[in-house]
Amino acid sequence: MFKKFSHALIEKNLILMGVLSLITVSIGGLVQIVPLFAVETTIERVEGIRPYTPLELAGRDIYVREGCYTCHSQMIRPFRDEAERYGHYSLAAESLYDHPFQWGSKRTGPDLARVGGRYSDDWHSAHLRSPRDLVPESVMPPYAFLDRPLDYRDIAAALRGQRAVGVPYTDAMIANAAADLEAQARPEMDPAGFAGRYANARQSAFDGDGRTVTEMDALVAYLQMLGTLVRFGDVTPERVRQQ
Ligand code: HEC
Repeated sequence: MFKKFSHALIEKNLILMGVLSLITVSIGGLVQIVPLFAVETTIERVEGIRPYTPLELAGRDIYVREGCYTCHSQMIRPFRDEAERYGHYSLAAESLYDHPFQWGSKRTGPDLARVGGRYSDDWHSAHLRSPRDLVPESVMPPYAFLDRPLDYRDIAAALRGQRAVGVPYTDAMIANAAADLEAQARPEMDPAGFAGRYANARQSAFDGDGRTVTEMDALVAYLQMLGTLVRFGDVTPERVRQQ
């Protein structure tokens, strides 16, 4: 009797119905949102993920500046056709130190999330200078002007900026930012601690010329590390979840 009465009351009273609906929906929302404040991160840690080297970070800035993301995504979706073409689907942890992330939503060209190591440094610099020399049907614009010297006077500040938004750059990394940047692009230079600061970072004359550090060096260094930090041979999705 009471139940029937209250039901009729709510259904006929618009304001009461609105207030009660709001309370019900809020409870649902709170149950989902409040626990998130208690966890440190919603991204599972995966072994091998490290911050970008100063040269890679400068290359990433060029990637953003040139709008490469308007034609290239960096997010392999967990579908079979994607995994067969590009490799293991992207993990959230692989974008952990990307501010902002470069997932993109447009694929005029292929996804680049795992392009690192797929081609040689020479291939990348030749392709960037003139894509149609290597891929005749390509609609990618040429970026030959990237052969100009890289301006990295503010590289330590760039690292500090990244640290301010949560990237774990150490004081030593910031103090050595410019030296590390030069050492990575000049193979004949003694890297002095570079390898200890950045695991699995490769020293190379990325643009084919080891004398001046160019924008091309930075961009190719960045492209060559994309998707190479996690060794998927020994990480299955289940293992990743446990770590
Ligand atoms: C107008 C769209 C467009 C823009 C902008 C663009 N690309 Fe491309 N890119 C393509 C297309 C199309 C291809 C495939 C044909 C080819 O290899 O040239 C491609 C291919 C590539 C490849 C080879 C990928 C593979 O797996 O074979 C790389 C690397 C690449 N682009 C990097 C870049 C970078 C870095 C930038 C920014 C400096 C950039 N692209 C800007 C369209 C674009």
